[in-house]
Amino acid sequence: MGNGYDDPFEGRLDGEGRPVYGYDSPAVQETYVSREAERIAGFLLPHLRPGMTLLDCGCGPGAITAGLADAVAPGRVTGVDLEPGMIAKAKELSRDREVENVEFRTADIADLPFLDASFDVVFTSAVLEHLAEPVQALEMIHSKVKPGGLVAAICTDWGDPLISPANAAVRQFFDLFERGFNRQGGSLNRGRHLRGMMRQAGFDVIEFSAAYGNSSTPETVQASVGSYIEWMENLPLFEQSIELGWTDGASLDGIKEGMRHWAAHPDAFLAVGRCEAIGRKE
Ligand SMILES: C[S@@+](CC[C@H](N)C(=O)[O-])C[C@H]1O[C@@H](n2cnc3c(N)ncnc32)[C@H](O)[C@@H]1O
Repeated sequence: MGNGYDDPFEGRLDGEGRPVYGYDSPAVQETYVSREAERIAGFLLPHLRPGMTLLDCGCGPGAITAGLADAVAPGRVTGVDLEPGMIAKAKELSRDREVENVEFRTADIADLPFLDASFDVVFTSAVLEHLAEPVQALEMIHSKVKPGGLVAAICTDWGDPLISPANAAVRQFFDLFERGFNRQGGSLNRGRHLRGMMRQAGFDVIEFSAAYGNSSTPETVQASVGSYIEWMENLPLFEQSIELGWTDGASLDGIKEGMRHWAAHPDAFLAVGRCEAIGRKE
């Protein structure tokens, strides 16, 4: 996926063939696998009925997909992801959890290999923020939903994290992460625009809200900051920010140290946003 800039590191994969966003890093995988449909897709569950057909676009390792499959069983659920490694993990997870009514295949959300109007519901979580053309992806989804069917989308919005006490290192982490996303055409600050994006793609938006994920105890603050530091150490987009001259190793070490120091403050509090929406196809 090109980003339209004159950029020597342009592309979805880095020089070693790893997704620049770092979906394959063990720390990131751990987060995805721990996601449950009840917790992440709770807003969609009241709309699901046994027998519905459902597509999960950008399903990752399929943890949420498996929960959605339980909710619509015996309806068929299909999970697609651009990365073959994710599909392999999703197949393994569904086998381990003995989910019978789900199948997975590699596919690009921009070019979904299904007949038009094939699904009662299409779900997509934490994918639109990675895309250079999110509205086009939603248009593609729109074509695959049956008339009267639904799309349910979750999109991160880290544009205004709540950080107390105010801290420059934590702020710098978010700014650098967003800059890395922007280079790929994505944005971590896109959730607030989800309603508009879905409407542009042809959906009637029937639900739209924002929520904050809170790190409000010393343990959860340490865990969040620990994840951020692991991402800085493992995600190609942070490595590339040094290669592109945006920062250097010493500055990244300073951000990590500053975040660790901040996380040890007895009043440390951090909350990051995400938006979720349900759209109906007329
Ligand atoms: C942040 S993960 C989210 C995984 C899962 N939906 C969840 O919420 O736990 C984003 C996923 O989207 C996939 N992805 C990114 N671009 C995609 C595209 N163009 N088409 C399909 N999947 C894509 C990535 O491979 C990755 O597995």
